[in-house]
Amino acid sequence: MSSVLCISNAVKKRCSVRAYTNTPVPQALLEEVFSAALQAPSNCNVQPCQIYVVSGASKNLLREELVKAAGSGKPANPDFEWNVRFQGEHRERQFGAANALYGAMNIVRTDRELRQRAMLRNWQFFDAPHAAFFTMARYLTMTGAVDLGIYAQTLALLMAERGIASCMQGALGMFPDPARTMFSLPDDVGILFGMSFGYADDDAPANRARTDRVTLGSMLRFLS
Ligand SMILES: Cc1cc2nc3c(=O)[nH]c(=O)nc-3n(C[C@H](O)[C@H](O)[C@H](O)COP(=O)(O)O)c2cc1C
Repeated sequence: MSSVLCISNAVKKRCSVRAYTNTPVPQALLEEVFSAALQAPSNCNVQPCQIYVVSGASKNLLREELVKAAGSGKPANPDFEWNVRFQGEHRERQFGAANALYGAMNIVRTDRELRQRAMLRNWQFFDAPHAAFFTMARYLTMTGAVDLGIYAQTLALLMAERGIASCMQGALGMFPDPARTMFSLPDDVGILFGMSFGYADDDAPANRARTDRVTLGSMLRFLS
C-alpha cells in the first residue's frame, strides 16, 4: 500500500480538486479504497449505496452527453430534491465558495461567459480520469442521503490518504438521463450526486482555491 496519513492529516489534506492529470488510478488501488470505505456506517446497516464508476471510453461518452444536456438550456431534472435556494448566511457562504474558486481562476464576477464555462467543467469531470455516481433506491430519501454522504466522505478521506484527489458534485445529478441510460437504472433508483477523482493537476489555477470555515463557537454549543 502507498504511504498512509493519519486521519487528522487526511481530513486536512482533502479539498475539492477541479483539475486533473489524465493518469488513471490503478484498478487495484480503486478497489482498495472503495472496499475500505465499506466500513462507513449507515442507518440500521442497510448500506443503500450503489456506485457506478466511469473511466475511459464510457467516461468520454458520458461526458459528451452530459455537456450536451447541461448546455441544452433545458432545466435540470435531478432524481432527488436538490435545487435548494440557499438563504441568509448559507447564501453568503455559497458566494464565499464561488468567490474562492473564481478568484483562483481569475474570473471576475461580471464575466458570465467565463463563469458559465467554468461551471460546464463539472460535466467534463474537470478532466478527471474517473467519475463515480452515487445512486440509491428513491424511497429512502433523507436516510439514504445521509448514508451516501457518509460513505462518500469516508471514501474521499481514504483517497486523500493515498494521494488521490476528488470533488463531490451535486452537478452530476442535475441532468441524470444519460447516466441513467448508461447504467440501465430502474425507475425506482435515483442518482443522488457524483464525484470526479484522479490525480490533481497541481499547476491548475482552480486547484489553488481554498474555502474557509465558520468558527467553532458559531456552530457548536456544549450543554451540561
Ligand atoms: C454534496 C456536495 C455536492 C457538491 N457539489 C459540487 C458541485 O456540483 N460542483 C463543485 O465544483 N463542487 C461541489 N461540491 C464541493 C463544495 O463546493 C466544497 O466541498 C466546498 O466548497 C468546501 O470546499 P472544499 O471541499 O475544498 O473543502 C460539493 C460538495 C458536496 C459535499
